[in-house]
Amino acid sequence: MYGRRLATTDRIIALYSPDAEDPAERLRSWADGRDIEVASVGLDESIESVYRDGASTLGLTVGGDGTFLEGIQRFTPRGVPQLGVNAGTLAFLARVEMENLEEALSEVLDGRATIGSRQMLHAETDGVDRTGINDVMIEPVPPENAFDRKITRLDVFADGEYVGEYDGSGLAVATPTGSTGISLSANGPIHLPTDNHSLQIVPLHTHRLGARPLVVSANTEIEVVPREEATLLVDGGRAQAQLDSDSVVRITGASQRAQVVRTSYDRQFMAALAGSLGWGLREAETDRVAPGSDAEPTDTVERARQVAREAAEGTGDPLRELHGRVEDITYKTDKSDIVTEADQRANRIITTAIESEFPDHAILSEESEFREGSSEYTWVVDPLDGTGNFAHGNPQYSVSIALVESGDPVMGVVYVPETDKLYHAVAGGDAYERDTRITTTDHDRLDESMLLSGWDPDGEFLTHFYRETQGVRALGSAALSLCYLASGGADGTWEYGTQPWDVAAGMVIARAAGARLTDRHGNPFEFDLEGDDRAELLGSNGPLHPALLDHLQKNETILGEE
Ligand code: IPD
Ligand code: CA
Ligand code: CA
Repeated sequence: MYGRRLATTDRIIALYSPDAEDPAERLRSWADGRDIEVASVGLDESIESVYRDGASTLGLTVGGDGTFLEGIQRFTPRGVPQLGVNAGTLAFLARVEMENLEEALSEVLDGRATIGSRQMLHAETDGVDRTGINDVMIEPVPPENAFDRKITRLDVFADGEYVGEYDGSGLAVATPTGSTGISLSANGPIHLPTDNHSLQIVPLHTHRLGARPLVVSANTEIEVVPREEATLLVDGGRAQAQLDSDSVVRITGASQRAQVVRTSYDRQFMAALAGSLGWGLREAETDRVAPGSDAEPTDTVERARQVAREAAEGTGDPLRELHGRVEDITYKTDKSDIVTEADQRANRIITTAIESEFPDHAILSEESEFREGSSEYTWVVDPLDGTGNFAHGNPQYSVSIALVESGDPVMGVVYVPETDKLYHAVAGGDAYERDTRITTTDHDRLDESMLLSGWDPDGEFLTHFYRETQGVRALGSAALSLCYLASGGADGTWEYGTQPWDVAAGMVIARAAGARLTDRHGNPFEFDLEGDDRAELLGSNGPLHPALLDHLQKNETILGEE
């Protein structure tokens, strides 16, 4: 899944190793004209002086894996995604070469890089309280006399269950990222590290033939109790402690995960492994492609659905973050600033994705100038539908993205950041919430129905239908109302006046789920991309439509015509 949200990056903080040149100048000349600030700090400095809360920041490390690990310590607690550039030698983590720096960054800003999560671990014992990305090692204290005993015995518990006694040179508890380091040299399994949320307990040179590495979930509480003195190292010594027989070491997955950015300029994980460690199953750079992999849909509408889904989900983090801030703020003026920022951020993420994937398509967005195209396709975007709700900290807001072909909406995606629901459909197909097919209800009587109402200036729809039905709810997001209709959460919906971006995506989804959409007289709803007038919309599950129209006709004054 592409990290479309990186399209709104407005600040890059580079952390560089003493062996690498300060990349600031090179970054600034790349960033020239892009409205991106650049700051750089050496490994011995903190990023505090250059980090700004609320900026959309990309962390860049320039150096080897050591610099990358230092980056994790600084960037992860701030939720900053990180890209590693290799100016060192052996690198599993920093996998973009210096010569590709600018191209890789441009890909990030196009929203075409991916963001993967990396499991981290947390170790706690007397004198240590530390989060690491690689491993915790517990080993014997080297004896003063080289001939003395060099083993240690450790009792290990997992979620309170006794695992056993580790008798030998100690053990390593490693994350999937750490699986290529010390745990591999002790015969532990290699884990593909991205989005792999597990930990492994690997005996180091055990004296017991039967002791095997144990893989546990990241939630497992591992306790290690030494029977004699031992040393503890987190991430190769970034934190350390001396243990004795009274010590208890508690290790578990950290709640925060590192966000690692990958571009097409990254060496692939298995190629890095083969190149650096002589992985025996393949030649280092053999370029075989998995069956069906990268099989991007060739059909424009299907490909559009994929890009729209990614772009919509890409708005999730920034919108949730800004929505959270609205809830904290008491002054109205500040709230409107946040809403504007939310509108613009979401818009940038979506339009960047469309522009980079479909350069010849036009874009009509509520939040930007019309972008001309040279094909029959126009994208219709409301980056934030339900701004009123958003401004009040109400979670009923959505992101609406549609593709229109020669004037007809043919693909719609509506994403609800606060619930992570993603509705989508293409015209002529079925409607879905993620992978689950959705359909409308089959109620055909008003007294068994529940309705939704959007903009209803005099509250007439509400007044006249409230008593006839089981209720009328005013939701505040037209796109979301149509998705509720599509998925059976309501039997009908009314909007007094809509703009194309309020309904383009929702109408594809609702129709694909079985809905009927008309005006108040029962004429088919006409989607008009060019007209200036707001269009009224009466939507229903289908069977209820005659009852809705009938009730409106009987009460002609309802919804008094303009
Ligand atoms: C509004 C919402 C609302 C609808 C209004 C729209 P916005 O969009 O969709 O439910 O009734 O007609 O303008 O301004 O929040 O994008
Ligand atoms: Ca809207
Ligand atoms: Ca809007």
